[in-house]
Amino acid sequence: MQIPQDLIETATLKLKSVQSEAEFFQLRAQYLGKKSFVVTAFSKLRELQSDEKLNAAKELNILKNNLTKLFETSIEYIEGKSDYKKLDVSLPADPFLVGSEHPITKISQKIINYFTPLNYQIFSGNEIETDFYNFEALNFPENHPARQMHDTFYLNSSNKSEYLLRTHTSNTQVHAMLNEDLPLYMLSPGRVFRCDSDTTHLPMFTQIEGLVVDEDVTFGDLKGVLIDFLEDFFNEKMEVRFRPSYFPFTEPSAEVDIKFGKQGWLEILGCGMVHPNVLNGCNIDTKKFRGFAFGMGVERLAMLYYGVTDIREFYSSNLDFLNQFPS
Ligand code: PHE
Repeated sequence: MQIPQDLIETATLKLKSVQSEAEFFQLRAQYLGKKSFVVTAFSKLRELQSDEKLNAAKELNILKNNLTKLFETSIEYIEGKSDYKKLDVSLPADPFLVGSEHPITKISQKIINYFTPLNYQIFSGNEIETDFYNFEALNFPENHPARQMHDTFYLNSSNKSEYLLRTHTSNTQVHAMLNEDLPLYMLSPGRVFRCDSDTTHLPMFTQIEGLVVDEDVTFGDLKGVLIDFLEDFFNEKMEVRFRPSYFPFTEPSAEVDIKFGKQGWLEILGCGMVHPNVLNGCNIDTKKFRGFAFGMGVERLAMLYYGVTDIREFYSSNLDFLNQFPS
């Protein structure tokens, strides 16, 4: 195969006389487009014998890389030349172009605003977490079937999967109980990750965790806090149902449903009394202290609040959607 040796040279020369972006892209197509020498030569490789094929392939690859680099470095120079790219940095900003908070940020803030006056402290948690904080310390022993609901993304370090993306914000419960003095009132918003994706589930979503550890707290206190919160959030009297459920780190456990118009009962959060195994593991005297915890899905609440039917809208970066939530 004959490979012309002067392609880089002629391309460099021609690039020097390019005056506009359109000319630049035309020239690039000539050297790297479908009909260019390089691309057609690649498709002819299969007609060659193996020795010749290997050499030609090597040469062609070098040529293609050099041409690509040449065009990549030239684009900046061309952009500088063409008039419309020259921005007048002294122009005043468009007064109508103002940013606004993302709807999930707004709803998270609305929830935080309810709990902070009740003296809940805000904790940020780790998104990359160890098995210990995400599962083990929360009473999910290795191989426990409850882990199946929390399939996640593992980060390999050497051969062992030591780190994972947390599947819930409940990991912050353990950090808070191990590090903070009692009594403890905490709220922890953040991103969580699961292998899940459809119109109502995303592989990344937002939760807000609540945890109270104090003397004499009861399931009645938990119910009161959550019902009050929901009525404040939706600004109306709500029908709320505590449905018995199972989480390894709470006992008893419940899922909370609210009755929402024609849609009927909708599940919005999980909660329960902190399991004694979890308290003991965090060196908390279970004779003196008890705890309750809850974890709510922010996207779910935002969907109900705003009437959004496809959860994926929140993360599609579609301005027509996002502009419906001005500040
Ligand atoms: N972490 C649980 C989940 O993601 C929710 C939960 C939080 C349940 C706190 C009980 C107490 O499903």
